[in-house]
Amino acid sequence: IPAVLGLLVAAYLIGSVPTALWVGKWFFGLDIREHGSGNSGATNTFRVLGKRPGSVVMAIDVFKGWAATSLATVMLNQGAIQAGHLLYFQLTCGVLAVVGHIYPIYAGFRGGKGVATVLGMMLAIAPGTVGVCILVFLAVLLLFRYVSLSSMAAGVAFALLQLLPPFRPDNSLLLVFGFVLAGLLIYTHRANIERLRAGTESRVPLFGRK
Ligand code: G3P
Repeated sequence: IPAVLGLLVAAYLIGSVPTALWVGKWFFGLDIREHGSGNSGATNTFRVLGKRPGSVVMAIDVFKGWAATSLATVMLNQGAIQAGHLLYFQLTCGVLAVVGHIYPIYAGFRGGKGVATVLGMMLAIAPGTVGVCILVFLAVLLLFRYVSLSSMAAGVAFALLQLLPPFRPDNSLLLVFGFVLAGLLIYTHRANIERLRAGTESRVPLFGRK
């Protein structure tokens, strides 16, 4: 039990690493939360600081979700959990990392929206489904050019895919967590939803279209 508890805390602490905030502070001397959308995430880093810092933040935030989720395998290898409970602990570790990313202990609990970290988490659990969700993300992005809308669409797609026979998991855990995560992503994007409704959400300049 102490080993499991320690690893659950570690999952939250890994997710808590405020990558966008630290990259902005250390390399550019600015607080990313005071620029662009004000979000401490990969999208806003791309927007405010450019492609290279954006890619670094994206990669690290995805890695946080993947690494925290993989702690469940460490629990299994230590004999701290049973094989039949692996998926449950993967999902729990992943969600703790996502919560850490959204409410980071190292940054006054003001973090990002959880998209990249959810992506990393699900890459560790259901990579095939994630592949389809990435296609959904890209399709919505090409059509509408809003990252927020694309992220929410991908999150909802993940949950809905769990209802389809080819993707349907052996047990209902992924279905439940899929809907919980989709709900969480919609919640973290509530300011974006307001802006989308008001027509003030910023679009990604694709193919020279501003
Ligand atoms: O990375 C989160 C994304 O979906 C929206 O970010 O900065 O446009 O609010 P942002």
